[in-house]
Amino acid sequence: MSAHSFGSDNHSGGHPEVIEAVLAANEGHAPGYGADPWTARVEELFREHLGPQASAFVVFNGSGANVAALRALGRPYDAVICPASAHLNVDECGAPERIAGVKLLTAECPDGKLTPELAESRITGVGDEHAVQPRIISISQSTELGTVYEPSEIAALAELAHEREMLLHIDGARLCNAAASLGVELRELVTDVGVDALSFGGTKNGLLLGEAVVLMRPEHAADFRFLRKQTLQLASKMRFISAQLEALLGGDLWLRAAGNANRMAGRLGAAIEALDGATLAHPVQANGVFAWLPDPAIDGLLETMPGDPPFHRWPSSERVEGSSLIRLLCSWDTSEADVDELAGAIADCLG
Ligand SMILES: Cc1ncc(COP(=O)(O)O)c(C=O)c1O
Repeated sequence: MSAHSFGSDNHSGGHPEVIEAVLAANEGHAPGYGADPWTARVEELFREHLGPQASAFVVFNGSGANVAALRALGRPYDAVICPASAHLNVDECGAPERIAGVKLLTAECPDGKLTPELAESRITGVGDEHAVQPRIISISQSTELGTVYEPSEIAALAELAHEREMLLHIDGARLCNAAASLGVELRELVTDVGVDALSFGGTKNGLLLGEAVVLMRPEHAADFRFLRKQTLQLASKMRFISAQLEALLGGDLWLRAAGNANRMAGRLGAAIEALDGATLAHPVQANGVFAWLPDPAIDGLLETMPGDPPFHRWPSSERVEGSSLIRLLCSWDTSEADVDELAGAIADCLG
């Protein structure tokens, strides 16, 4: 078996309960394109978690969920305000601009979190036909820097958005990690705080693959199935993605899987913080640990640690002479032994 990697939470495999659900779904024939009983149950589960207004659409991946959601919310001349560190901005190969046709208006957010003040600074040119129209605020929960928005912080962004006739989208690739970290229900981070659209993540939380776009307003949901197909996110054998989402949301697997990843990140963060020569860049609030380490120690770790790669050097606008930022992500299957082994290796490389 290959070594445990902290390179990403998509380096882990599928959770055994998810695999079991896929195997159970692999019985006989079922209609394609979502007309199957697994998908109907998943749609109902999203309504149970998020309220009767939640319309869920199963999709393949996170970038596709984001792009399709933005297509539903935006007009051809609209813009999306997001943190500069947003996956939308740095990790989707320009798909939001190319495929959704929206301009991204970014704000530098040192902890990865957009505030109403930062968002407001990008709301310009409203009503000016020469300018793109800021229409959507998009945030990631948890963020790309491992931080978590409190429900009140999301509510404040939703309030600003709605006051300015805009909409709030959440990239929830790690929404379950945020909810587990805060000890709240998914609804408290979405429905109760005025979110209009959600990209719900499954892949990073124990699925083999699979996400969902959840639209909270009927006017966006009405024709979304056309946008999903046109955005190449309609699975023909959808039952196999839906069966996985059903395993995740039907009981408390979403919480157990994310809770483990968060706890292991907390353990790793505490171990790193205690080391001379290592500094945490951000508070560890979900399943990610970001730390500054001297370059020779990082090079030593990359040489000696198994994993392909064991972790990533992470871009940062901050500069620390002779050091780099690294990102370590924990998964549903990360164990205390995995964490302790890594912390020991870091200690050795720091000498
Ligand atoms: C914040 C965030 N959003 C979305 C995604 C989903 O991306 P993908 O298209 O790789 O499923 C990721 C994956 O790294 C992510 O970190």
